[in-house]
Amino acid sequence: MNVVVAQDLARLREDFPILAEKVHGRPLVFLDSAASAQKPRVVIEAMVEAMEHRYANVHRGLHWMSERATEAYETTRDAVAGLINAPDRHEIVFTRNSTEAINLVAHSYGRGVLRPGQAVVISAMEHHSNIVPWQMLRDERGIELRVAPITDAGELDLAALESLLADGRVGLVSVTHMSNVLGTYVPAARVASLAHRYGAKVLLDGSQAIVHRAVDVQALDADFYVFTGHKLYGPTGIGVLWARRALLEAMPPFLGGGDMIASVTYERSTWADIPHKFEAGTPAIVEAIGLKAAIGYVRAVGYGAIAAHEAALTEHALASLAAIEGVSVLGRAQDRGGVVSFTMDCAHAHDIATLLDRQGIAVRAGHHCAEPLMHRLGVDSTARASFALYTTSEEIDVLAAGIRRVREFFA
Ligand code: ALA
Repeated sequence: MNVVVAQDLARLREDFPILAEKVHGRPLVFLDSAASAQKPRVVIEAMVEAMEHRYANVHRGLHWMSERATEAYETTRDAVAGLINAPDRHEIVFTRNSTEAINLVAHSYGRGVLRPGQAVVISAMEHHSNIVPWQMLRDERGIELRVAPITDAGELDLAALESLLADGRVGLVSVTHMSNVLGTYVPAARVASLAHRYGAKVLLDGSQAIVHRAVDVQALDADFYVFTGHKLYGPTGIGVLWARRALLEAMPPFLGGGDMIASVTYERSTWADIPHKFEAGTPAIVEAIGLKAAIGYVRAVGYGAIAAHEAALTEHALASLAAIEGVSVLGRAQDRGGVVSFTMDCAHAHDIATLLDRQGIAVRAGHHCAEPLMHRLGVDSTARASFALYTTSEEIDVLAAGIRRVREFFA
């Protein structure tokens, strides 16, 4: 396909059936893709096709249907490995979402490899999914939790991060690759290089980042990378953990059950090889097939085109919001993706979102699962507009007009 997104946008939007919907009698202006992206028809059809023609359980049956389903499920692993340039398909573990992937690492690497007295470093702009699992580990295992601060511009403070690493007790640095609130891209390769210099591993939460830009885990020199399918135009219920083979092999299983074992007796069980050691129970078969279709779609459009389109949208949004009195945008990072959080002096975020919704505009409002970041920013909530490859410049204009109406309403 390789479309230049901006030129072929009308055609590309037809790939997403839901974008033709009306909400409260107005055309849907969907600016909440950072929470969950809409699905192109190829994803929907791949899932229907699987259930109508190629459905059975995987890795089990010695029959034609099971073999077809297993092939489809397993080729998603190759698609994911290709997407992130993983050196080995066995390093791709399917989870339910990013949250489960991080919990898997906290459980298996945290409890199996890290030792009491070691520390985990997160940043001050993490989603709850990259805070709470480490708190649980800290409280149970005596692992110290350290928080690397951000600057007032909303960027990771690398000098402060280095000072947190300096005593050599940090086992893992676990940070977002792109903030879901501020849009900040974290310089992941520099974080990895710093972490490695002090003997720590690095986990990158790519839930937001991988939607907007190509990710190469080898170029980043990451140790763990996690993301979720539903933000990447795929279905809910399927996420990915990538980790280096040696790490996965050293980690004990997360969940026990079928499919993750080599043998079971009442006395003891032994584990399957990676990645199956970490995939207990019947997996999200149809969702994996949908994820493969989503990856194919994103790659066909092309990350270069997506990134250029979204950079232009973000610039337009920042300029449009700056021109409205009483609107404050949070975060001024140099390197940012298509997420713009804002507050208004006249209205609470929930009121902004409610009034925008009456105009057909969907934005998210609240703490965005990042309460500690809200405290750091001195707010209790924000409204957030987030962009996708199908977002148009006209939709940003509708948003700006909608915000002006919110202002008029409260004035
Ligand atoms: N983490 C998702 C968001 O930022 C749900 O909206």
